Amino acid sequence: MSQNWTEVIAADDVPQDDVIGVEIAGKDVALYKVEGEIFATDNICTHGHARLCDGFLDGHEIECPLHQGKFDIRDGRATCAPITENTRTYPVKIEGGRVFLAFE
Ligand code: FES
Repeated sequence: MSQNWTEVIAADDVPQDDVIGVEIAGKDVALYKVEGEIFATDNICTHGHARLCDGFLDGHEIECPLHQGKFDIRDGRATCAPITENTRTYPVKIEGGRVFLAFE
């Protein structure tokens, strides 16, 4: 099935080994760059109303700024209490130096 890609930001604008929040297509999305690869998840924590882009990225894990729960940014898996609900991830592609996300 073909994906519906939405252009988001320049790949260079996603900070290396860090996270940035973007609002696009009515969604609040967190973009991460680890070892040159870009990942995307929902930006709002599944535990409460905190933005993951204000948290701390350690390798492929983002720590929520509010209660220090964690998600794996590769698959959205909740990896540390008090988070119990996984978050959503989005397919990413880079084309012409721009980041595109598939929201389906
Ligand atoms: Fe994210 Fe509580 S709001 S861990």
